[in-house]
Amino acid sequence: MENEKICAVVGCGLIGRAWAIDFARGGWRVRLFDPVEGAVEAALATIDRLLLDLVENGLLDAAARDVARARLEPAPRLDAALLDAAWVQENAPERLEVKRELWAALDRFAAPQAVLASSTSAILPSRFTGDLPGRARCLVVHPLNPPYLIPAVELCPAPWTSMETILAAETVMRGLGHSIIRLTRELDGFVMNRLQAALVEEAFKLVAEGICTAEEVDIGLRDGLALRWCFAGPFEVGDLNAPGGIRDYVLRYRSVFDSVLNSALPRPDWTGPVLDEIEQSRRLRLSAEEIAHRQRWRDRRLMALLRHKKEASETIGD
Ligand SMILES: NC(=O)c1ccc[n+]([C@@H]2O[C@H](COP(=O)([O-])OP(=O)(O)OC[C@H]3O[C@@H](n4cnc5c(N)ncnc54)[C@H](O)[C@@H]3O)[C@@H](O)[C@H]2O)c1
Repeated sequence: MENEKICAVVGCGLIGRAWAIDFARGGWRVRLFDPVEGAVEAALATIDRLLLDLVENGLLDAAARDVARARLEPAPRLDAALLDAAWVQENAPERLEVKRELWAALDRFAAPQAVLASSTSAILPSRFTGDLPGRARCLVVHPLNPPYLIPAVELCPAPWTSMETILAAETVMRGLGHSIIRLTRELDGFVMNRLQAALVEEAFKLVAEGICTAEEVDIGLRDGLALRWCFAGPFEVGDLNAPGGIRDYVLRYRSVFDSVLNSALPRPDWTGPVLDEIEQSRRLRLSAEEIAHRQRWRDRRLMALLRHKKEASETIGD
């Protein structure tokens, strides 16, 4: 315990508590801080339930759960949370003014050699680290929810983030079992949300133009493309879909993609009538009251899938 590194989790909502599990399971002592009264206690209660879910789904053994749980401790103040921390993971609300004020304090209280990482989904790091004396040790480490289950994380530097910081962040994330997307420069949406935006925009277009229903879009992903994308990205899928690999694939099918891209459908207003149609379709399948229950179903399915992927990596190979 003495030699374990310390991670300060700042902001203990959905993402903060998920990082807390990730770091504690990975051998870090974790201090949890949140300025809202009762938030840390609520996070710890949720973490207890989530750790149990991991054990019940075969992703953590009971002894390891107890060790991880013992590494978690509430911190009464921000400066106490950051004392001697080697890593600070910020998970405050996604509002620029909140991040700016908080990051000034993080930079003030954190040890000079600490890495300061933000979970922000969409705010570029240059927008809240530019004025900080320690701005070279600041970057975005963006997870998908929840990071203790989903391996991919994006490292997005500000223009002044040092290479030393980026490499240190990469080492820490790999140590926790993450796979890394390292952006060479900051860009709206980073990588994963840009990929997601392209796909979701096309989904909205197809429904708005009456080409197919919202449910059929979900079928196309859930029972179609995503089955392969679950273990191979689009470039590997292409590489394996033509005898001569990716170049052969592009030469054979480029014209198909050219015609698709040349027949682009008009941009729909996501909040217009198409949203009524999509919402109606969703509510027919799931009432608003059932959403929370279904979220647990989703997490259990995700855990089962991850267990399968782990086993398949061992028996079939990566
Ligand atoms: N929810 C997601 O799926 C997701 C995924 C990836 C990244 N993120 C990012 O993670 C961050 C947190 O999102 P979330 O979904 O956990 O939100 P959340 O609302 O669940 O949690 C935010 C927490 O921050 C606390 N907080 C409020 N003011 C604060 C302050 N000044 N300093 C520290 N903490 C403060 C709140 O009490 C709350 O517990 C956001 O930047 C978000 O973009 C979210």
